[in-house]
Amino acid sequence: MTSWNPHSWQHHPALQQPVYEDPSALEGVLAHLRRLPPLVVPQEVDRLRTLLADAAEGRRFLLQGGDCAEQFQDCAPEAIEGKLRVLLQMSVALTHGGRKPVIRVGRIAGQFAKPRSSATEEVLGRTLPSYRGDLINGLEADEASRRPDPERLLQAYFHATATLNHLRALAAGGFADLHHPERWGLPGATGEVPAYRRTLEQVKESLDFLEALGGVQREVLERIDFFTSHEALLLPYEEALTRWVGEGAGHYNLGAHTLWVGERTRQLDGAHIEYLRGIRNPLGVKVGPSATPADLAALLDRLDPGREPGRITLIPRFGAERIQAALPPLLRAVQASGHPVLWSCDPMHGNGASVLVDLGGGATRTIKTRDFGAILSELKQAFEIHRAHGSRLGGVHIELTGEAVTECTGGTEGPSRTDLAKAYQTGCDPRLNGTQSLEMAFLIAGLMRA
Ligand code: PEP
Ligand code: CO
Repeated sequence: MTSWNPHSWQHHPALQQPVYEDPSALEGVLAHLRRLPPLVVPQEVDRLRTLLADAAEGRRFLLQGGDCAEQFQDCAPEAIEGKLRVLLQMSVALTHGGRKPVIRVGRIAGQFAKPRSSATEEVLGRTLPSYRGDLINGLEADEASRRPDPERLLQAYFHATATLNHLRALAAGGFADLHHPERWGLPGATGEVPAYRRTLEQVKESLDFLEALGGVQREVLERIDFFTSHEALLLPYEEALTRWVGEGAGHYNLGAHTLWVGERTRQLDGAHIEYLRGIRNPLGVKVGPSATPADLAALLDRLDPGREPGRITLIPRFGAERIQAALPPLLRAVQASGHPVLWSCDPMHGNGASVLVDLGGGATRTIKTRDFGAILSELKQAFEIHRAHGSRLGGVHIELTGEAVTECTGGTEGPSRTDLAKAYQTGCDPRLNGTQSLEMAFLIAGLMRA
């Protein structure tokens, strides 16, 4: 293995990178980024690694969630507060379900770059370069905004900074409404009794009990740990946020607490794996249907030669139809390898469907959706498969928002396929809305106790 440095990835094939028309403009931006302060500090990164090591051992549970693609326009108080609120509420439900503390990690404050399967996409009958996330180009349907713009790296940095600043202020202030799940706006107040209703009652009883104890409650609910994550995709940006931390600690990416590598860019000798192997942050690795047991074992050896607890979170995303066949061979390979990984289930990316929706006036549009039932089914199977193999599912990775969007179908209150056009807002993949996310958390809490 040749020696690593923050730019050694440049000697490896880098997939999913935009081509900038003016490389000197990119250089100028990167020089500026390298001078700017980090978003997070190494101590926080180290603490998260320790917590994830605990989760791998079954003492904690990981909840990672947020938008598929954050957009600069979502850097607004309502959207940020909505995401934090729903993640906190979900974590209360999961803490109850698993009887263990939950580690909360947002796909937030930097989740601005998207890998795309195709270089072009059809938008309203026109073929345009694909949208690659606000870090790279604009979602607007015209050639000019789809051109990669280096200035966006600085804009991303400042939007991430503003988002994180607000998150930190909110977390420090505590979220008073966490204490009253009956006010969370859960579905099913009338009509059929939803499957999670009993859990909700129990959570409420537990919170009332803590309330009665006074001080304990403050400790449990008001000290809010919250971590950030994004996909390490645009490597010049990640490199510019990589900082040497003295006293032998090594290089850290201080643009987020943890980063993950996507299904499309995790080639063993590719640039992304080369970059990630040298940073101290805990790493997520998405694992889809193309991964063989041998690939995965080689990847773990490359990223985690020291078999360090908390270093690697494996995030399978097979889909409800494929997990039964695909997961067991990988589980066995990882067990044989001796790497102490944390397993987290992404029940979103293997359960996509395309549907044609009616926009009225004869206009139609093909949109991506996911069904609540399929997402839940993959989670349920994941818990069962891990149990059957003497392994442990220690986390979930979910695309969600606090807002009342209509992007995924199902759950107690819908929406149905015909409702999807009503509030379809995602810049990329469909997210569970606030109500669906909470209902899902209560159902996962039930699976944890099964
Ligand atoms: C994502 O998490 O948004 C993503 C693109 O995932 P994957 O790499 O698993 O397809
Ligand atoms: Co996605």
